[in-house]
Amino acid sequence: MAEDKATPQQTEKIKVNRREFLNIAWLASLGLVSLEAAGMTVLFAMPTFEEGEFGGVIDVGPVSELPGPGDPPRNEPKVKLWVSNTEEGVMGIYKVCTHLGCLYNWSEQEVSFLCPCHGSQFEKNGTYIRGPAPRSLDRFVVRIIDPDTGQVLAESTDGSPLPIPDNPNARVQVDTGKRIQGVSKG
Ligand code: FES
Repeated sequence: MAEDKATPQQTEKIKVNRREFLNIAWLASLGLVSLEAAGMTVLFAMPTFEEGEFGGVIDVGPVSELPGPGDPPRNEPKVKLWVSNTEEGVMGIYKVCTHLGCLYNWSEQEVSFLCPCHGSQFEKNGTYIRGPAPRSLDRFVVRIIDPDTGQVLAESTDGSPLPIPDNPNARVQVDTGKRIQGVSKG
């Protein structure tokens, strides 16, 4: 029986079809990658932090449980935060050094924040004292919340200390999604 052989035109058509198929497959994979990238962009543009998670709003307790103005700042290690109560009011300070990102500590001896990596030092309110850090520590927006209504009674949107109200039951919230850069060192 004679073998069926493709004519030169048919061979050319098969080649073209194969090329077309590869082109379509390549374009489809490119489309998938683009869709994935677009999806990631949307996810990043719409953060879904739960309350109490770093990146969201942290309830750091009632006014009555804040450290006093003479006390050391309170470490909140799970959410990279120091709650610092100064003479001027309460602050939420980001626990990452403004030099190269080390986690710094509170030094009882120096009565200031000290970074173990390169020795930058900051006051209790986050103000730069010395070392290679380019600026004061970053802070977060702090709010005082009415414990009964949940209304915002006071808010510090620029990172400055927020005066503490008389109501010991008022809640203190730190919005770790709203970071305010420390002032550059002079
Ligand atoms: S990372 Fe803190 S001083 Fe360098």
